[in-house]
Order: sequence, then C-alpha cells, then structure tokens
Amino acid sequence: EKGGYKHYMAKEIAQQPTVVGNVLNAYLSGDQINMDLGGINFANVDRLSIVACGTAYYAGLVAKYWFEQHARLPVDIDVASEFRYREAPFAPKTLGVFVSQSGETADTLAALRYSAGKVDKVVSLVNVPESSIARESDVAVEIHAGVEVSVASTKAFTCQLTSFAVMALKAAHDRGHLDDAGLAQRLSELRQLPGLMSHALTIDAATKAIASKLAEARDVLFLGRGQMFPLALEGALKLKEISYIHAEGYASGELKHGPIALVDKATPTVVMAPHDGLFDKTVSNMQEVMARGGRVVLVSDARAAEEAGSGVWQTLAMPEAPELIQPILYAVPAQLLAYHTAIAKGTDVDQPRNLAKSVTVE
Ligand code: M6R
Repeated sequence: EKGGYKHYMAKEIAQQPTVVGNVLNAYLSGDQINMDLGGINFANVDRLSIVACGTAYYAGLVAKYWFEQHARLPVDIDVASEFRYREAPFAPKTLGVFVSQSGETADTLAALRYSAGKVDKVVSLVNVPESSIARESDVAVEIHAGVEVSVASTKAFTCQLTSFAVMALKAAHDRGHLDDAGLAQRLSELRQLPGLMSHALTIDAATKAIASKLAEARDVLFLGRGQMFPLALEGALKLKEISYIHAEGYASGELKHGPIALVDKATPTVVMAPHDGLFDKTVSNMQEVMARGGRVVLVSDARAAEEAGSGVWQTLAMPEAPELIQPILYAVPAQLLAYHTAIAKGTDVDQPRNLAKSVTVE
C-alpha cells in the first residue's frame, strides 16, 4: 500500500509531480482552459468569498494573491469556524468558494450551508467528488490528488493550489486582464510544474540534514512575503502537526512588530523566499534575525542565495521557477522539513497524536 515508502506521507509527497500533472491534464487543453465551472464567467463576478480550514485555508490564501493580482478580483478569505459567526454582509455578485480535501469537514460544510442562497453560486474544490461538500455545491471542482491517507495534508494542498491557479488564470482571461497570448504564456509556466516538482524533490537528502538540527529546537519561526506568506503558515502547521515542535508562520514584514522578540540562538527561522521583486526586503528581514544571533534556514534558489550574502546558517537550494508557480513548488521543502524532523524525533508521522484526517465535528 505504501509502495515501498516508510510512510504514506512520504509516498504522497513523492506523488506530487504526477498528481499535479493530472490536474493540468484535466483542466488545460492546448493553449486553453477547459475547466467546467457550470457556465461561470468571471466578468460577471465582483467578489470571491473563500472559506476553508487548516491547510485548505492556506491554499485559499495563496489563491487570494493570484485572483487579486492577475484577475483584479477582490477576495475575502476566512477560516470556516469564524466565517459563520462574524455575520459579514454579502456583497452582490459574490461567488462562495469552499475548499476541502475530504469534503466532509463540519465547519466548512456548515459555512457552505450558511452561504447558500446568499451568494450567487456555491463553488467547491474537493478531492472526493461524492462528498457532502461536493454534493451541496452548484459546481464542484475536483482536485485530482487521489486518495490521501496521511493526516498531514500534502498532495491535496498542491493540487488545490494548481486547480486554483487554473481558475485564477481563467478569471484573468474572462475579465480582460490576460489576452490569448498572455494566457498561453501562463499556461506554459504551469506546465513546468511536474518537472520542477521532481527537481524540488531531489532536495530530500539536504532537507534531512537540516531537519536533524531543527529536531533539537523547541520553537521554529517561518517567514514568507507576498504569495509566499501562506507557505510560511503551511510550513509551520506541518512542522507542529507531526513533530510537535512549536512553530509560527509570519509575514516577513511583521517580524519587527513582535515575533523578533522570540529570536535567539536556539530558535531557527526558516525563510521561504524565492528570488522575486521583494527579495531585497526579505534580505533585510534575515539580517534583522542574524543580527540578534538567530539562525536562518534560507529556502531559495541559487540567485537569491548569492544575493543573500554570508551569515545564513543553512540553505536549501530550490530550482528557479516562474513566479506564478513558486508557492506550489515551495510546498515541497515545507513538507520535507516537517517529515524529516518528525522522523528525527521519532513521532508517528501518519497518525499524529490528537488529530483526525477528517474533522467532522464543529
Ligand atoms: O478535509 P479538509 O481539507 O476540509 O481538511 C481541512 C483541515 O482539517 C486539514 O487541512 C488539516 O489542517 C490537515 N491536518 C493539515 O495537514
């Protein structure tokens, strides 16, 4: 069942180039998008309201950056348990978007039921097409991850992200912010994903070496900026779920507004920062950490590692990649760091204490 892997989590991490490729096969055809959204044209949509829990919520948070940047479509995003009770007004022409691997998460299902009739349409991104959330949606988009057994979600996350990327590009095209040539260019970037993910998986051994050091820490900080901020949150969630090490994800720029007080020699800071337009700002955040004796693990590409200069404690070298797909690709080091740290600590990787694969109570 585990196909030669020690844990389902390892198998599911390794499956990602394939399953992400399956998403692309399902939703792209040539230079066009072929995703059945039941006739939704994003030119007639004014707002998205994305609701989910845990890792699925972080996928939605990345999607917010994409929809707003590429499609100029405003996005509200909430964790499901808060959404229902904060009594937010619904603007006209809003689509409700519910993200759930299992399709059975009680909080997400309750939020969906609360939204039905108040939003124009209920759209879901699910891995289980016969689930409650899929059945109660107007449009259910399948994320094609295949069965995910490990409690820590891995391949469902990258398949949610890939499906969202396709949807955001469709929205950009529908709304006139991307012409046919621009769309073809973006789709060719998406098609680089399976190859680049296979490449990213080769950092496995390097991750193991770093994880053996992280395993000694009591607390770990994760930083990311822009569309990488949700990856910092996801990296921290993965680590705490399976290694039981306390971890926090922050937007890099927030560091000096509080969390920098935690920085000391014993608290490693993992910085998820591919080379992008904001990289110099990230470098100064890293310097703030290092100036206080903090140890930085830089997860980045060769170009950025060079610009970062000296003083970085550990570097995980990722392949260079188009900006659009960077958050999807950087899920791999987030997952591998958590996985190998858990192995080093000897915890139960696939069945972490206190957690269930599908949370069916509110
Ligand atoms: O099945 P869902 O996607 O609705 O589950 C949502 C969360 O419970 C889930 O992502 C959880 O946070 C995972 N254990 C994360 O690894």
